[in-house]
Amino acid sequence: MSTHPFADLSAAVRENEPMARHTSFGVGGPVRFFAEPRDSEAFLLAHQRGVAAGLPIRILGRGSNILVTDEPHPWLVISTRHLSGLRHSGSCIEADAGVYLPRLVAAAENWGMGGLEPLAGIPGSVGGAVAMNAGGRYGRVANTLVGAMVARFDSSASDLNQQSEIRNQKSEMVPYWVDTAELGLDYRYSIVPKAGLVLLSATFQLDKAAPRQLAERRLGILAEKHATQPMDALSAGCVFKNPPTGKSAGWLIDQAGLKGARVGGAVVSHKHANFIVNGRNATARDILQLIDIVVKRVLDRFGIELELEIEVWTNNEERR
Ligand code: EPU
Repeated sequence: MSTHPFADLSAAVRENEPMARHTSFGVGGPVRFFAEPRDSEAFLLAHQRGVAAGLPIRILGRGSNILVTDEPHPWLVISTRHLSGLRHSGSCIEADAGVYLPRLVAAAENWGMGGLEPLAGIPGSVGGAVAMNAGGRYGRVANTLVGAMVARFDSSASDLNQQSEIRNQKSEMVPYWVDTAELGLDYRYSIVPKAGLVLLSATFQLDKAAPRQLAERRLGILAEKHATQPMDALSAGCVFKNPPTGKSAGWLIDQAGLKGARVGGAVVSHKHANFIVNGRNATARDILQLIDIVVKRVLDRFGIELELEIEVWTNNEERR
């Protein structure tokens, strides 16, 4: 009989769950506990229990922008996957943190609400998309987000790379509303992880629009993405942020002659050089070694130090 701290919760909790099953890279070692709560109450309760049990905690969206290292991890990972409510009223849509972003884009289109279609083709959850102000050439989350319901972990976390791993939290978390301005959204940035906030839902304000026009726009963006990005490969999207000025990371990596560079099963995509794809049985170690090669080569060649856009989840201090 299970005696783990979550045994009585209305949440599926597994032990030694391989993160490779939950990341778009398809890599990542087992975590001690993996919880999939059914609603926000169970979500907060699972967190509370994790704190009481002294476990380091990480919050998982769809795993599409993270690289989890290969070794076993002592964490409790709480997935937002089942926080999947979607409501609309007037010109606003409120989406729970676990809503799959493409589902939100599709719903807005059906309801004749415009403004989210620039996010077409971006995988991931609403929570993750808000936390990193996801977007692309045609728009970002920040353009339509009016605010979010959050819970605060009273964290001493001050380092961005500590991300959602928060220790010494208050045992109780009360959800409250924050306006977009308070989230400090910038290029692929928000204060969410640093401030120890967990997003429970997000509200977007949209314009009236004809579903057919929204569909056309969405399909155009998707076609462009399929033509220029390895959409069907195992990857975490763009690995590096674009440098603040000048050429994009993809261009720099391409010009450094790195397309097709490989370590084990990890390959720099031939289609878009800012993507590393898990070609076949890659490990996180392969991907990290390839990242190091890319950073070094671009630095040597252009004097520009690329910064990671993806989040690395590891216990290894050096990689944080
Ligand atoms: N380029 C190359 N070689 C390549 C890739 C790109 O020369 O292998 C050149 C392109 O020809 C273009 C320039 O680099 O002149 C920029 O490329 P692209 O238009 O593909 O845009 P990007 O800056 O590389 C950004 C986002 C993407 C988003 C696209 C489209 C970042 C880091 N990347 O890519 O976001 O999908 O715009 O909107 O901001 C992601 O965040 O995971 C992501 C993929």
